[in-house]
Amino acid sequence: MELDPERLPRHVAIIMDGNGRWARRRGLPRFFGHREGVKTAKRIITKACEIPIPVLTLYAFSRENWQRPREEIAVLMDLLRDYLRSELPVMLEKGIRFRIIGERERFPQDIQEMIARCEEETASGHRMTLVLALSYGSRAEIVRAARLLAQAVREGRISPEEIDETLFSGFLYTADLPDPDLLIRTSGEKRLSNFLLYQCAYTEFYFTPVLWPDFTEEEFLKALADYQRRERRFGRI
Ligand code: IPE
Ligand code: IPE
Ligand code: MG
Repeated sequence: MELDPERLPRHVAIIMDGNGRWARRRGLPRFFGHREGVKTAKRIITKACEIPIPVLTLYAFSRENWQRPREEIAVLMDLLRDYLRSELPVMLEKGIRFRIIGERERFPQDIQEMIARCEEETASGHRMTLVLALSYGSRAEIVRAARLLAQAVREGRISPEEIDETLFSGFLYTADLPDPDLLIRTSGEKRLSNFLLYQCAYTEFYFTPVLWPDFTEEEFLKALADYQRRERRFGRI
């Protein structure tokens, strides 16, 4: 598939959905779907890095996902541990800068430490920024930004008149990242599920029925090609 190198998205965000259904269709426990899902994520990260896509954000765990059964959460935490442990050298080798967005303080201490280590050691990665959304919820992110802003005003560091979109977005987790140009959601669901509500004001959406474990590099290229055929008007004519 031919992509126009001049019109690549600067930031692609993906809602990796459908792991549970993938497993169920095979008569397997949901865990197997999550394990396959991690493999897919690794393949897509490698592909994005090759293209390269400057920023790739993957929705890995939502705030709402804490409401899942304890056993499933435990499985997801173990997969996250394995991922962070095995991928740090890979990220360093590929020149990937790793960071997370979301409520890092809600994770077990050892995972928090692994996240911090990955962020620190990969900080000078220049090829691609990989953002994992972990315990991420967009409304909570916006409310947090409002709280931080209110504190800054109370302490006299900012005056209310100064608050504009640029200043506000500086208080979001995504402060230093461009808005997503393209958002992909797998598994046929057509909703945002509390993902990047503020940042997706002018994002192009791509929905595919393919379940995340089945999402191949080819499917990824298809989404990018579809994006390149679109005309983005940003309110102009
Ligand atoms: C996405 O797959 C992974 C996470 C939310 C962690 P799901 O687990 O939501 O899979 P389905 O939607 O039940 O098929
Ligand atoms: C969104 O998927 C969150 C992630 C992919 C991590 P969900 O499966 O949790 O979303 P809903 O519940 O179908 O909206
Ligand atoms: Mg789901």
